[in-house]
Amino acid sequence: MTEKGVYMTEINDKVQNERKKVVLSGIQPTGTITLGNYVGAVSNWGKMQDDYDSLFFIADLHALTVRREPAELRQMCMSFFAQLLACGIDPEKSVLYFQSHVPAHSELAWILNCNTYVGEASRMTQFKDKSAKHADNINMGLMDYPVLMAADILLFRSDLVPVGIDQKQHLELARDIAIRFNNRYGDTFVVPEGYIPKTGAKVCSLQDPTAKMSKSDPDPNGWVSVIEDESSIMKKFKRAVTDSGNEIVAREDKPGITNLLVIYSVMTGKTVEEAEREFAGCGYGTFKTAVGEAVAAKFKPIREEYARYLADKAYIAEVAKAGAEKAARIAARTLAKVKRKVGLVSFDK
Ligand code: TRP
Repeated sequence: MTEKGVYMTEINDKVQNERKKVVLSGIQPTGTITLGNYVGAVSNWGKMQDDYDSLFFIADLHALTVRREPAELRQMCMSFFAQLLACGIDPEKSVLYFQSHVPAHSELAWILNCNTYVGEASRMTQFKDKSAKHADNINMGLMDYPVLMAADILLFRSDLVPVGIDQKQHLELARDIAIRFNNRYGDTFVVPEGYIPKTGAKVCSLQDPTAKMSKSDPDPNGWVSVIEDESSIMKKFKRAVTDSGNEIVAREDKPGITNLLVIYSVMTGKTVEEAEREFAGCGYGTFKTAVGEAVAAKFKPIREEYARYLADKAYIAEVAKAGAEKAARIAARTLAKVKRKVGLVSFDK
């Protein structure tokens, strides 16, 4: 083989390997992005956008499954978009958009509905939980929620879907739907993999370190948000529940201290062991203040950027429109293929 031949082979290999994997995730526009969402999801999205073809969207259609004030929903959607930008989702690297701006999501959801069994959908834990919680509004959308989510994912031939552990069952349903469709109609969808990050995947409540940090926690002292001001963050960390004893170590019988060590480690980039050494011999009070300061320092620029983005509606509109256009272009290919496969008439070539 000539020098040139070898060289060409290498280039070809490289070109083939360069087909980047697709990563996609959505977030419901409710409340604010909490420390838990940031650590478990959004900060990882920010890291993934360099290595993958990435799409991130505001799941505004999913948000309609529970009753909301229209004006409040609209405001929340804008706020979430600004929060994602502030958290480092870069529209130059990722496709960022509102789900409702890309009609293909809903269109594919309908076709997938016709390939999903009522039994499967009604078995979902989240459907059962939400039905119990909103007993006066068990609407069709609530049951259909995971099918729309499957459409979100399958539309873009997503390889990787970073989600919290609570969405694992929905992801499995999306995989089942994809496999079934492929078997019935021939290869159409990529069967997605979940990506559930290990370290710090779960940040716990500051008031009940055995429960996940959740913005639906009625006790606001349990969570902090990425756009919360410094004094409020400090107050909540000073009040954080700790454990008996006085050692600052991560251990099963010390869920409070362990949670704070994990938070500190994620905020500072230090390992939990390094943090343990750093605080060896310190009192709980000093430690809690230090964790609060680390969180406040990390979130300060996010809060400032957020305010800047939110004030610039024209910029948000521009980014969201461009994002929706890009997403629609990618989605159109899959949707056309799906329509053809199931036997809908098309006059396109
Ligand atoms: N259901 C997800 C959640 O509540 C949000 C979501 C909607 C999503 N569509 C998605 C996540 C598609 C990943 C992929 O967290």
